[in-house]
Amino acid sequence: MRMTLLDNLQPGMILGKSIINAEGTVLLAAGVKLTPRYIHRLQNLGISTVYIWDERTADLDFRGPLRDETRLRAASTLRQVMTELEGDLERTTVLANKLPQIATVVDDILNDLLSSNKLIIDFLEIKTMDDYTFFHSVNVCVLALILGMRLGLEEEKLKELGIGSLLHDIGKTRIPAEIVAKPGPLTVTEWETMQKHTSLGFEILRKSNELPLPAAHVSYQHHERYNGTGYPRQLRGEEIHLYARLTAVCDVFDALTSDRSYRHRFLPHEALEYILGGSNTHFDFAVVKEFARCVAMYPLGTKVRLNNGTQGIVIQVPPQAPQRPVLRIIKDREDRTLDRPYNLPLLDHPRLIITAVLDQ
Ligand SMILES: [Fe+2]
Repeated sequence: MRMTLLDNLQPGMILGKSIINAEGTVLLAAGVKLTPRYIHRLQNLGISTVYIWDERTADLDFRGPLRDETRLRAASTLRQVMTELEGDLERTTVLANKLPQIATVVDDILNDLLSSNKLIIDFLEIKTMDDYTFFHSVNVCVLALILGMRLGLEEEKLKELGIGSLLHDIGKTRIPAEIVAKPGPLTVTEWETMQKHTSLGFEILRKSNELPLPAAHVSYQHHERYNGTGYPRQLRGEEIHLYARLTAVCDVFDALTSDRSYRHRFLPHEALEYILGGSNTHFDFAVVKEFARCVAMYPLGTKVRLNNGTQGIVIQVPPQAPQRPVLRIIKDREDRTLDRPYNLPLLDHPRLIITAVLDQ
């Protein structure tokens, strides 16, 4: 597989990874031969990038640290919870009833991460516009848990962090849908309303006796900024709970690397640059430092050009050095397609650097 922009799709190309919504419905299945109609359908789903099949990497199995089933179950559970909460503003029992399911989702995510044996994000999950909130929340939870594990949090704390980060935007169920889903910049009044999702989320979560209070604080504090310029309470530094400091970084990174109605996604190395730029002002430097070690700037399937002019596809991300992937070189410096692509571990070639991301 390799990643490519929708603009580069040609009829006859084969979809490499299924597009699935939060209800578990396959919108377009891996293996389908793309036609102009399918390409149009992909455009309507609001995504800019897809994985397509590439025979030069056909021997490889690209997948992130989470199993597809776990990711889907997490997104669909969250969808149910949020839809039910939207349906009736007074139904505080919704969360209490669903809490065991939410806890199971977090346990499953933790188990997947533990057994995958790689505490890094090396695969870009493509999400459709309609299901953005659900898959975004799951990704934030996965990233926050990876960070938490790397920072040595014990199991009980990881569970609290997992629940808190998964439900961090639950307050959006109390904000009018036309504001949450507005395809463009918000007015000042709308923005003030939108900011209330933090305290509204806290209100929903703290009413549930079984839910650990620190998890509720993630919702309350995930838009606070390290230098006190966030909202709603302008907390600063370590006044912000560690879980919220972790979630803030993961939330911004995943939001930037997602397609939105008003812009295409940022590439992971651009989003990482943004996060690094905000360390010690917006974000806790200690958290950012660990974060930079656990996300791949060039996820699996990314096509890149090296400073020697050759081109390759990222086929492996070493957990100990995620920014120095193994490439499968597919074109020489004269842009000629190689008959025999070969693997090149950048870790063994310190003079070679990635100078451009291609096709996206
Ligand atoms: Fe938020």
